[in-house]
Amino acid sequence: MLSLLFLAAIAAAAAQNDTQTSRPPSPRREQFRVIYEWNVIDFEWPSPGDREAYLSTNRYIPQNVLISGINFYGENLFLTVPRMMDGVPATLATIPVQQIDTAPKLKPFPSWEDNVLGNCSALQFVQNIEIDKNGVMWILDNGRVGTLTQKPDPKCPPSLVLIDLKSGKNEMERIPFPPEISNMNTTYLNDIVVDNRDGDYAYITDNSAVDPGIIVFRRSDKKSWKVRDTKSMSSVPEASAFRINGTSINLPVNIDGIALGPQFFTADDKIDRTVYYCPLSSYHLYAVNASVLRNDSIGSTDGAIRPYVVDLGTKASQTDGMKMDSTGVLFYGLIGNSTIAEWNTTVDFHVGQRTIARDPNYIQWVDRFTFDDRGNVYVVVNRLYNFVKNQVSTSEVNYRILKSHTGTKSYVYAEDLKPAGVPGAAAAPTLGASLLLLALAHLLA
Ligand SMILES: *[C@@H]1O[C@H](CO)[C@@H](O)[C@H](O)[C@H]1NC(C)=O
Ligand SMILES: *[C@@H]1O[C@H](CO)[C@@H](O)[C@H](O)[C@H]1NC(C)=O
Ligand SMILES: *[C@@H]1O[C@H](CO)[C@@H](O)[C@H](O)[C@H]1NC(C)=O
Ligand SMILES: *[C@@H]1O[C@H](CO)[C@@H](O)[C@H](O)[C@H]1NC(C)=O
Ligand SMILES: *[C@@H]1O[C@H](CO)[C@@H](O)[C@H](O)[C@H]1NC(C)=O
Ligand SMILES: *[C@@H]1O[C@H](CO)[C@@H](O)[C@H](O)[C@H]1NC(C)=O
Ligand SMILES: *[C@@H]1O[C@H](CO)[C@@H](O)[C@H](O)[C@H]1NC(C)=O
Ligand SMILES: *[C@@H]1O[C@H](CO)[C@@H](O)[C@H](O)[C@H]1NC(C)=O
Repeated sequence: MLSLLFLAAIAAAAAQNDTQTSRPPSPRREQFRVIYEWNVIDFEWPSPGDREAYLSTNRYIPQNVLISGINFYGENLFLTVPRMMDGVPATLATIPVQQIDTAPKLKPFPSWEDNVLGNCSALQFVQNIEIDKNGVMWILDNGRVGTLTQKPDPKCPPSLVLIDLKSGKNEMERIPFPPEISNMNTTYLNDIVVDNRDGDYAYITDNSAVDPGIIVFRRSDKKSWKVRDTKSMSSVPEASAFRINGTSINLPVNIDGIALGPQFFTADDKIDRTVYYCPLSSYHLYAVNASVLRNDSIGSTDGAIRPYVVDLGTKASQTDGMKMDSTGVLFYGLIGNSTIAEWNTTVDFHVGQRTIARDPNYIQWVDRFTFDDRGNVYVVVNRLYNFVKNQVSTSEVNYRILKSHTGTKSYVYAEDLKPAGVPGAAAAPTLGASLLLLALAHLLA
């Protein structure tokens, strides 16, 4: 009953930089395969009558519903359904991680009521979410809907919404961003990584056409600030044209994908992490240390982070979403090349990029990635160019989820380093620990 489609020409282990042919190939990973595919997205309706009622009043227009972001928790994959066009009945939903069907219906999350358009206590426009290692879901709700229509409608203030999934109650805590950093007419909260250190920080890309930047949010005091750097966070004309599956589009999109590296010790024994980001319409990948973003006075000074931003070099094509695993390997798409690539961040970016899948028929616009808790990576492929050009054909497969085994987990589960000198630090075993070991040895003897 369940026919899995295997990708034809993939896992080539071909070097991304074609001038570097002498490099040894990277170890082969399991092939990506299609686990879910849809022509159009449909939902689990409270009753068949509701579906009819939504259809007849244009509150559900099937070809206007696109899946974009993906995440994992428990038994579910979470999918985001940004309300870029009219007729999108819910903006966040789940499907089972265990396949029961090749085109499962989406179940609105937390509920239908929590997805009602125009109710500012409910979700309006979710582009991406993250689920941290404590089971807290961080939802970016842009508040503005119809972003691809003639009249985008800022229904509610751009907000971060938190849900503690562990409690099982799915209560939403809504935290609007201050207007100085998020103008409701122009802000576009795009993607988020969560850093569970020192009271939880989030680093959020805002690809606003007029004020792009990284919004930093500190959960402990709910303070947020915006870090701007025109050079590394803006689209560039030479990368604004996309050509894919016979379609050409011009899409000058600012800072978009973001990823967070593992913890490392600095020279003065502090702990830091690297934040990676790129504009969608750019060939460059940029990096900045998290400690720089976490300094709340850097937000108030325009261009203050410029000296701390590193241009790591170029990719063969543009990238929408990217995701770091727990070992510091970055996964990302190369849109113009129908490619999924990876980079082991301990190796120089110029020589360390690898193609892990390439297929012009199945890899048509890689959007977002996630990991489950069993060592699998999942990718949403959504032919976004057709959506932007309003040429979605409901007689073709438009949305797919691909899966492959990597043996790793999300960066949110990366190792927590202990500052040197603090009791329990691996580098400096304490007397207490030694006594405990002696006691254990005694018990085992
Ligand atoms: C708005 O949504 C919230 C959250 O789902 C719900 O509790 C509330 O009843 C809704 N308000 C209206 C007027 O429907
Ligand atoms: C948003 O746009 C509306 C309509 O153009 C305008 O009246 C309003 O002042 C704008 N709000 C902000 C915060 O710029
Ligand atoms: C981050 O900081 C370390 C030193 O602590 C430095 O070696 C490294 O170059 C910095 N990375 C970036 C991207 O600035
Ligand atoms: C934070 O940034 C400000 C402004 O750039 C700078 O003066 C200050 O030294 C920074 N603080 C830390 C702890 O790096
Ligand atoms: C990758 O895509 C870019 C455009 O995004 C194109 O210029 C380049 O030729 C492609 N490279 C390969 C190897 O397909
Ligand atoms: C990444 O590179 C480092 C250093 O070369 C190596 O030790 C590690 O095994 C690599 N990781 C993967 C997943 O290949
Ligand atoms: C390819 O490698 C060469 C030599 O290391 C380097 O100069 C060039 O920038 C690289 N190109 C890309 C696309 O990474
Ligand atoms: C576009 O993709 C579809 C589906 O894979 C394929 O049938 C078609 O031939 C492609 N068209 C072009 C021009 O590449």
